[in-house]
Amino acid sequence: MAEWINVAPASELQAGSRKVVFTEIGPIVVFNLADELYSIKDACTHDGAELASGVLDGDQIICPRHGSRFCIRTGKVQSPPAYEDVETFPTRIENETVQVNIDS
Ligand code: FES
Repeated sequence: MAEWINVAPASELQAGSRKVVFTEIGPIVVFNLADELYSIKDACTHDGAELASGVLDGDQIICPRHGSRFCIRTGKVQSPPAYEDVETFPTRIENETVQVNIDS
C-alpha cells in the first residue's frame, strides 16, 4: 500500500518555495516550481551533501558543496562530479495538504 507522508499545508508551499520533510528513508526536499510539485531525496549522489539549500536554476538544483546539478523533475544528473541520478518521489495535494509517496 502506498505510503503518503504529509509535508505541509498546500498554502505554506507557494510557487518558488521548498520544504524538507524527514522520513524513515531520510530527508526529502519538496519544491513548488511554478505551481508544479517535485520531490527528490535531499542527499547529493556525489558525497551526500544536502541539496535543499542549493541554488535553483530553472528546474535544476545546484549542489551547494561541489556544484553538481540535478533536474528536480526527473532526478537526472546534469553535471559532474556526481554521475548518478538522485531519487525522485511522487508528490500530490490531497485535502489541501502536500504529500509525498516514499514507497515508489
Ligand atoms: S556532494 Fe554534491 S557535488 Fe559533491
